Amino acid sequence: MNGDIEVEALTEDQARKELARLATEIKLADAAYYTEDDPHMTDAAYDALRQRNLAIESAFPHLKRSDSPSDSVGVIVKDGFGKIEHGVPMLSLDNAFSDEDVQDFADRVRRFLGLSEGEPVIITAEPKIDGLSLSLTYEKGVLQQAATRGDGRVGEDVTANARTLSDVPDKLAGSGWPDRIEVRGEVYIGADDFAALNEAEEAAGRKTYMNPRNAAAGGLRQKDPAITAQRPLKFFAYAWGEMSAPFADTQTGAVKALAEWGFATNDLFKAHDGVASLLAAYRDMIERRAGLGYDIDGVVYKVDRLDWQERLGFVSRAPRWAIAHKFPAEKAITTLEAIDIQVGRTGSLTPVARLAPITVGGVVVSNATLHNEEEIERLDVRVGDQVEIQRAGDVIPQVLRVTDPDRAGRSAPFEMPHVCPECGSEAVREVDDKGKEDVRRRCTGGLICPAQATERLKHFVSRKALDIDGLGAKQIELFHERGIVKAPQHIFQLERRIAEAGFDPLSTWEGFGDVSAGKLIAAIDEKRNAPFGRFLNGLGIRHVGQTTSDLFSRTFVKWQDFWAAVEAARDNPEGPEEQALTSIDGIGGAAVGALKAFASEPHNQDMMAELMQEMTILDGEPPASESPVSGKTVVFTGSLEAMTRDEAKARATSLGAKVSGSVSGRTDILVAGPGAGSKLKKAQDLGVTVMTEAEWIELIRAL
Ligand code: IVH
Repeated sequence: MNGDIEVEALTEDQARKELARLATEIKLADAAYYTEDDPHMTDAAYDALRQRNLAIESAFPHLKRSDSPSDSVGVIVKDGFGKIEHGVPMLSLDNAFSDEDVQDFADRVRRFLGLSEGEPVIITAEPKIDGLSLSLTYEKGVLQQAATRGDGRVGEDVTANARTLSDVPDKLAGSGWPDRIEVRGEVYIGADDFAALNEAEEAAGRKTYMNPRNAAAGGLRQKDPAITAQRPLKFFAYAWGEMSAPFADTQTGAVKALAEWGFATNDLFKAHDGVASLLAAYRDMIERRAGLGYDIDGVVYKVDRLDWQERLGFVSRAPRWAIAHKFPAEKAITTLEAIDIQVGRTGSLTPVARLAPITVGGVVVSNATLHNEEEIERLDVRVGDQVEIQRAGDVIPQVLRVTDPDRAGRSAPFEMPHVCPECGSEAVREVDDKGKEDVRRRCTGGLICPAQATERLKHFVSRKALDIDGLGAKQIELFHERGIVKAPQHIFQLERRIAEAGFDPLSTWEGFGDVSAGKLIAAIDEKRNAPFGRFLNGLGIRHVGQTTSDLFSRTFVKWQDFWAAVEAARDNPEGPEEQALTSIDGIGGAAVGALKAFASEPHNQDMMAELMQEMTILDGEPPASESPVSGKTVVFTGSLEAMTRDEAKARATSLGAKVSGSVSGRTDILVAGPGAGSKLKKAQDLGVTVMTEAEWIELIRAL
């Protein structure tokens, strides 16, 4: 792929294609980040895309696209909030990654302004807060409206929500504010508040936030301001947009004024008189990062004199007078104390490096993933080794290399266990149809494996499966630990099993009480009637995920018919039922094989019999026949803006389309959202119809 070729080595044709690819990828990534609050790549990966785009554009200026990502920030606003057009666009910042980049920035400023050698240029430094920007408009000192950045030109009207933030004054304090002034800054969540919020989300059985920035964005963009009010959102003011009159001569003076008007400003903000001093401030902030209590991802430098800022102006999406000096992916060296095996919900065995705890990028790291046995072999990492680890953005820390591979007396190479450490069942590497061995080793124990049991139970009650309100990971763990819920059917026997185990009634348990115990029991009862597809997905059978489950439910409609076919196929692999199952378009041999294996296990048979005593499986919906998409195979890729991926799949399936996860010659339509990569390319190569999400919605709208 052209993406791997050094910029210098690209031919013109490759460069053109590469710019097209980068434009799409960046657009998709922007949408995921700004519109969905759900980024699908790390900041470092995103920055790398933008860097590469810029590098190619400067090597081939004539190839710069009219929709070049370097001219834009962010993406369209989400529906649901009113739109507010920014009087002055809310722009982004260019990035510096090295000391040289910072020196270049200062040199550029000097050159642009035509300053002589001796003339001092004061530049401020302040932390780059990892939150989302907010614009607040005040008239005669009274808050009128609040808007998110949106695409930089038009943002979302979040006035009601912003009013609930204690750091956002309703009325400006002090004096000297212009009649009309738009104050800008960053909404964020502190580290402790973030941890507490996620704990509460988990306890309530809801999805946790990936990082404080997403939590802040999610909190600010609630439909109900009362919910925003409960979120511990904070705000630092650091900039301004439209104003009826100037109110300061320097950045320093402006920030001081903002503080006097009642805003929280960052106390690490400081003016510096040269690059050396800026770089010292940068290093100092790296040191302090861990103790700040909120996430920062770099340092922002701004030319202090506002008349100079004015003269420097903007280039495309970013000001010439400011730059963000990003923190590097943090690395550290520590001792590998042990390699443990973690067993996931589907039984995959993952080796985890247990490390002597060390602070990396402000976070204490004591575990890192080693992925699988091939990775361990590749790194030749052994217990007792010194290892270099890296933590970039939000991803799980990785082990990069062994730093002392020649040390005498190293321990023996690690051997991956062939039995599950949790239940003692055999752990195997699957071999696919083409004879290729899976890199992962999996426990074959299923529900009898305690590691899989809790994970499988969590999956059974999760949003994509039965979706039982108030029954989240925490509750499942508690019930499992007390021996009350060991298998899915036990959920429906909760009160009886609590009594039989000799515990007091649930309403007396800590964290429950009359109301929530009652609610939980009611929520469980409600889900005794479960849709076919959700129920099947909830069983967590290998290769039988949501799409496959929905496909079975639409094809068979009646659960009893489906299960009878599975049992018949199990008993007679040559029979017509086996045929019926495998001939469904979109169902692979792996899924049917896994279903039969599942149905062959005696403990699964008991479980299914007991579940059927407790539950009624609702009929699946047969596909609507006239829809123009019925019978079509649709693939969704990239991120979607108008609906979640799950919603899109469900809607397509209900219209009779088959939703597949991969593009092939049989694909009819690829719906590509921002972030589409290899699937988009493959579809284009195969001549598959490619649509944007909007086009897809247009197509199915009337249906
Ligand atoms: S100044 C015209 N200062 O970073 C530039 N931005 O990558 C105005 N950010 O959209 C921005 N901390 O959301 C500025 N101390 C800081 C910041 C900061 C975080 C965010 C802001 C901006 C983004 C640009």
